[in-house]
Amino acid sequence: MAEIGLNIEKAAELLNAGEIIGIPTETVYGLAGNALNEDAILQIYSAKNRPKFDPLIAHTDSLEKVEDLVKNIPEKAATLAKHFWPGPLTILLEKKLNVPDLLTSGLSRIAIRIPNHPLTKQLLSKLDFPLAAPSANPFGYVSPTTAQHVQDQLGDKIPYILDGGPCKVGLESTIVGFENDEVIIYRLGGTKVEEIEKLIGPVKIQVNESSNPAAPGMLKSHYSPGRKMIIGDIKENLKGLDKMTTGILSFNKRYDVPDGNQTVLSSNGDIDEAARNIFAALRKMDQPHIEVILTEFLPKEGLGKAINDRLRRAAV
Ligand code: TXA
Ligand code: MG
Repeated sequence: MAEIGLNIEKAAELLNAGEIIGIPTETVYGLAGNALNEDAILQIYSAKNRPKFDPLIAHTDSLEKVEDLVKNIPEKAATLAKHFWPGPLTILLEKKLNVPDLLTSGLSRIAIRIPNHPLTKQLLSKLDFPLAAPSANPFGYVSPTTAQHVQDQLGDKIPYILDGGPCKVGLESTIVGFENDEVIIYRLGGTKVEEIEKLIGPVKIQVNESSNPAAPGMLKSHYSPGRKMIIGDIKENLKGLDKMTTGILSFNKRYDVPDGNQTVLSSNGDIDEAARNIFAALRKMDQPHIEVILTEFLPKEGLGKAINDRLRRAAV
């Protein structure tokens, strides 16, 4: 099992030695290694059992360090970076040659973000390389939002997990890129579309709904709690089902099934709170006695859009 702790020096030593570790961010925990070291990148793909056509995000702690990795920063990208970094936004930019093709799966753009977590910011400031960090879950499974989640799933594959407490956002970063002068959102996430549009005007949302590996971004079947999941009117769908083997993941109401079978994402209907709880809730549904999970879409505003996206993918 991995050691869990708060030792930034130890984390830096392991990363400097080319090893991979668990790190906290405000979105979800990452499985981190030196983004410029092909051996470390290969260890990440292998520990996650992730296909190499699905590229990794590079994390760093300053715009100067970002400039070392990219050819140029378009004006709108700079505006977004200044406003949202550090924070839950990943920006796709044309990469320089020093960035390994293995990191970007051979694509010409690198995905970059400056995360907003005090421990990880300190860690990044001690390193002279960026950290490649996908979410620290086995490929296709729910993203981790506590150090213990990382331990449960990858603890036997890594020496150390830096414990930054529960993630404050709870959903992965929003991913944006630029095609000509158009701003495109490739993944809905922790930065709200409305906030991006307020800053730079209308954006196009082009979230990948297929399982086409040639179009990385997101595969359709993801975040699976390993059960059949039905999205819709929970009360209606519960009719005729065995309450003992039905799990319920609801936005703000409780239903007539045992407490251990249900999670209310936010009893007072707060969407940001629901985002913080969604992945832990999906994990809770992964119990042997639960055969089917009933859930519902959240209001399509703020982080509700990103939560609905994750529910849709979990239900495939
Ligand atoms: O919040 C987050 O973004 C978390 C934390 C740890 O930072 N990381 C994360 O990484 O969610 P991951 O690997 O689970 O998801 C990254 C997504 C993948 O769907 C990948 O296909 C896409 O980003 N991606 C990475 N590099 C890309 C690139 N060069 N072009 C297009 N998509 C890219
Ligand atoms: Mg992931």
